[in-house]
Amino acid sequence: MPKRLLLAALLTLAGAAQAQQRTAFAPGQPWPDNKDTHLNAHGAGVLYDKGRYYLFGEHKVAGPKGNSAQVGVHCYSSKDLYNWQDEGIAFAVAPEGSGSEVEKGCVLERPKVVFNKQTGQYVMWFHLELKGKGYAAARTAVAVASKPTGPYRYVRSYRPGAGQWPLGFKDEWKQPAPGEKDLKWWTPEWRAAVAQGSFIRRDFVPGQMARDMTIFVDDDGKAYNIHSSEENLTLHVAELTADYQGFTGRWNTIAPAGHNEAPAICKRGGKYYLITSGCTGWAPNAARSFVASSIWGPWQQLDNPATGPDADSTYHSQSTYLLPVAGKKDAFIFMADRWTPKNPIEGGYIWLPLTFEGDQPRLRWADRWTLSAFDQPRSKVVATP
Ligand code: DGJ
Repeated sequence: MPKRLLLAALLTLAGAAQAQQRTAFAPGQPWPDNKDTHLNAHGAGVLYDKGRYYLFGEHKVAGPKGNSAQVGVHCYSSKDLYNWQDEGIAFAVAPEGSGSEVEKGCVLERPKVVFNKQTGQYVMWFHLELKGKGYAAARTAVAVASKPTGPYRYVRSYRPGAGQWPLGFKDEWKQPAPGEKDLKWWTPEWRAAVAQGSFIRRDFVPGQMARDMTIFVDDDGKAYNIHSSEENLTLHVAELTADYQGFTGRWNTIAPAGHNEAPAICKRGGKYYLITSGCTGWAPNAARSFVASSIWGPWQQLDNPATGPDADSTYHSQSTYLLPVAGKKDAFIFMADRWTPKNPIEGGYIWLPLTFEGDQPRLRWADRWTLSAFDQPRSKVVATP
């Protein structure tokens, strides 16, 4: 090729690469990766490791099969949170017909990865539903890797809390109360029965249900799996073993009969903040928020953190993770999904700065914003013009 043409081609390429550099978040807009393909990481979580962020999420495919796991967990990495490099499939589903719990066609949702300092391993947890069984299995599963990007090796799945009562569970609650099975759902009597363990007793032997979930590592290195349990009626928080691959048997309930899913948690000023959604399948609803001084509770329910237009649908999205921004004190990004169940691969992402008014977490819509939002007085986080 003549030198002149080569130079022109190189300049065009450089220009295209430059055009792809993103300098702001644009919630709800297509979010191209370094290959100019919309990020495919739904129900995601983020790991920050050695100066790099790693985004892990459900790899969705087009069409009706796309809500079941056809591929696995997709990983991307980034230095600045705006520009993401495709790192490929970190955890791959097992081949169809293999009989594995994680075979192609299972449901694999909300993967979250944490690093275990004691073992030097990266530990991935996700919500697992067995192939062909709808959402009945309600299990939480773990996989490990020696590098953040994987490949992750499947370890096993759990129904947590088998044979273990939650903290503070009274002796008199260990036997069913007469007639509790016949109580009409959502009545005050039924709510009281749920709070006193009607579903916990039912699942005491096989272990408690575990659907929508997140993982939280506390300042002391202890990790917790927080998941929707009891037919999605009650959240459970369960302590993980020192290697983060199993459960210690210490667990508790959060908001019994509160019907919460999509838990996302952060810690600020010694307090724990939880954002959740209600339970309306793939359709968005109003977020909820909670605060506690101990991960074991008591958890106090606060308001819907979202404000302004579309607050009642959380801006048409559902929480998935509260991302601590590295190097900025108490700066968290609210990460949420805009699900498109008819064509799941199109699903969008809503990332917004999380602010606090006293203890109340707050969200305000911004078409476009940058991390410098966290450098302003926090109550005044606004959109970048
Ligand atoms: C809502 C949950 O938050 C999602 O992760 C997914 O499980 C859908 N329900 C399935 O309907």
